[in-house]
Amino acid sequence: MAEEKKKKNSSYISGKESRKISRFNRRVTKKLEKDRADAGKDPALYTVQMKNPNNVVEFDNVCTYFFTDVGTVKAVDGVNFNIPRHSTVGVVGESGCGKSVTSLSLMQLLARPTGQTVGGEIRFNMGDGTALNIVNTPNAVMEKIRGNKISMIFQEPMTSLNPVFRIGEQVDEVIQLHNPDMSDEDIKARTLEMLELVGIANKEGVYNMYPHELSGGMRQRICIAIALACSPTLIIADEPTTALDVTIQAQILDLLQNLKDKLNSSIMLITHDLGVVAGMADYVVVMYAGRVVEKGTAEEIFHHPMHPYTIGLMKSKPVVGKKVDQLYNIPGSVPNPVDMPDYCYFRDRCEMRCEACKGLYPPEIRVSETHIVSCYRYQEEGEILGYPKSVNVEEL
Ligand SMILES: Nc1ncnc2c1ncn2[C@@H]1O[C@H](COP(=O)(O)OP(=O)(O)O)[C@@H](O)[C@H]1O
Ligand code: SF4
Ligand SMILES: [Mg+2]
Repeated sequence: MAEEKKKKNSSYISGKESRKISRFNRRVTKKLEKDRADAGKDPALYTVQMKNPNNVVEFDNVCTYFFTDVGTVKAVDGVNFNIPRHSTVGVVGESGCGKSVTSLSLMQLLARPTGQTVGGEIRFNMGDGTALNIVNTPNAVMEKIRGNKISMIFQEPMTSLNPVFRIGEQVDEVIQLHNPDMSDEDIKARTLEMLELVGIANKEGVYNMYPHELSGGMRQRICIAIALACSPTLIIADEPTTALDVTIQAQILDLLQNLKDKLNSSIMLITHDLGVVAGMADYVVVMYAGRVVEKGTAEEIFHHPMHPYTIGLMKSKPVVGKKVDQLYNIPGSVPNPVDMPDYCYFRDRCEMRCEACKGLYPPEIRVSETHIVSCYRYQEEGEILGYPKSVNVEEL
């Protein structure tokens, strides 16, 4: 009876199991850290070639797992997509589907040793004909890339700014860090130029203000100024407008888009809100439970969504001028990330499942040059590219 109860409660972990998990985690993370340190010693091991030189970033079957006390969380599991030069790529999906972990893997800012990219390659185009595989690039090299070539804008601008320093000092500091030879006057001039660029009218006044004296929208503009101070090749914006009012949201998105064009950068725009992506993205990647379920141009995703999850997301979005009694919600919830099934992760919530869905996780199916979907409903229509690859942690 007691045994049965234990089995029913799948989150129950006995002392013995818990010790086993800890031992396993220690062994695996120690090995992964050692492999990374070894690879970092020789640039030949982390210098690679882009598959397509017109891409800034290529995520190639990336697997990022967290080795936690309750087991291995496969937060990102076999993710494939590219960020082309001068484009905006929207990454969308419900909370917890692995969007932030994907971007943190690219910046190598995972909480190590618990969080590890255990498989795949993240190729970053250095612009000189070479590329780095971020997965095993040593920290000393990453420090030159973060802020200089890739920068990040986060959801809550107040937590990104230091409350005890004036705005000017905080922007100056970043410019100085990346341009150690610049004189103090030049740094201040550059800071004021950046403040003007992000649309701050009273730049001299704001230079001397503290973060709490500014509104949320103004603070996010400052964060954008800091992120763009070194003209990065790629800007990662992780839910940049989620904490802001709707009217300010549109202004901040406009600003980001304009600056991207001015600086010739690309944007990886992460959001749970399809509305944010709609007006801005050139390409859209839809993630579900750590995997990409559909990707394509914005036109393809918004006008011809194919995956039942994408269709569900579209249906649950309010539309101006359309009266509905109740907004659609996708039934059920995301499966337990520690114990993913081997069939389609969306099956238990899918209203379109068919006989084929009883099989293994669906392969990637190319339905047009740019449109790829992982769903059995389209296996007759397109070219089958192959199954997403998980890493067997027992073999690490
Ligand atoms: N430091 C961590 N330790 C353990 N699990 C984590 C950690 N960070 C994220 N996760 C898990 O990874 C999954 C993806 O998280 P995240 O990428 O933050 O989602 P989102 O799509 O909302 O940005 C979630 O299941 C989350 O619980
Ligand atoms: S593979 Fe089947 S269960 Fe999965 S999303 Fe497609 S139709 Fe639904
Ligand atoms: Mg997130």
